[in-house]
Amino acid sequence: MSTKPRLEGKVAIVTGGASGIGEKSVKLFAENGAAVVIADVQDELGHQLAALLAPYQVSYHHCDVRDEKQVQQTIAFAVDKYGRLDVMFSNAGIVGSMAGILDLDLTTFDNTMAVNVRGVAATIKHAARAMVARNIRGSIICTASVAGCVAGCGPHAYTPSKHALVGLVRSACGELGAYGIRVNCVSPYAVATPMACEALNKGEDEVEAIANSSANMKGISLKATHIAEAALFLASDESVYISGHNLVVDGGFTAVNRFVPGDLS
Ligand SMILES: NC(=O)c1ccc[n+]([C@@H]2O[C@H](COP(=O)([O-])OP(=O)(O)OC[C@H]3O[C@@H](n4cnc5c(N)ncnc54)[C@H](O)[C@@H]3O)[C@@H](O)[C@H]2O)c1
Repeated sequence: MSTKPRLEGKVAIVTGGASGIGEKSVKLFAENGAAVVIADVQDELGHQLAALLAPYQVSYHHCDVRDEKQVQQTIAFAVDKYGRLDVMFSNAGIVGSMAGILDLDLTTFDNTMAVNVRGVAATIKHAARAMVARNIRGSIICTASVAGCVAGCGPHAYTPSKHALVGLVRSACGELGAYGIRVNCVSPYAVATPMACEALNKGEDEVEAIANSSANMKGISLKATHIAEAALFLASDESVYISGHNLVVDGGFTAVNRFVPGDLS
């Protein structure tokens, strides 16, 4: 078996890299040989993480993905500092308002769309431009969700935003294949990150207990590192011919719609 680090020589940007799934991905990508730029709006957390990972090539750059200029500047920062861009992990996202449809506030709806869809579109556009300009067969990975496959896993702006994201990934994959650039999603089931804990107003253990009670896969709690491992696979050359794929990391949750409890196999 090869002992070569799986992202050796590659340069990656992780949006939403200061917390949760992004934070674990930054660490795993760096441990696997990549130079990584953490792109986030939480400056203090982002700088702290970069300092913690000082033995590796990790930097922080402020980036609100709703602002196309900031996205462009972040990509320019990565290219100036590390010479190229191979991997864009477009992971930043928000849950948004938990209000019911009868009370839907369209301003908060727009904001969820601005982060979860428009923001990702901006990262795909500018990452792909940087890759095409340098003839790099890069990998773009977006964090969608089980809420991009079925309803009932998130509020009324979040669910359509993640459905749209799956469509955006397929659409971009259709154009960028001509340049050898791959575009995929990773779609997690519930993970007890700060976002999930805040949305449910519960602690980590309680969020995991809720998630585990509805999960198809028993005896294991889904962690941010499991999603980071899926992203690492999609970032690496191990997935060299995989594009337009939605890698659902849900222990079978979206594949099964049980009508009686127990084993029907
Ligand atoms: N935690 C879950 O249960 C779960 C399940 C499915 C999908 N997801 C998705 O995973 C991704 C990561 O979320 P997480 O659970 O790790 O939450 P998190 O809150 O721990 O991390 C999200 C990060 O995104 C950043 N962010 C928010 N708005 C931003 C913006 N405008 N520009 C740049 N950065 C911004 C936040 O500052 C934060 O650091 C999101 O896209 C989320 O929708 C999470």
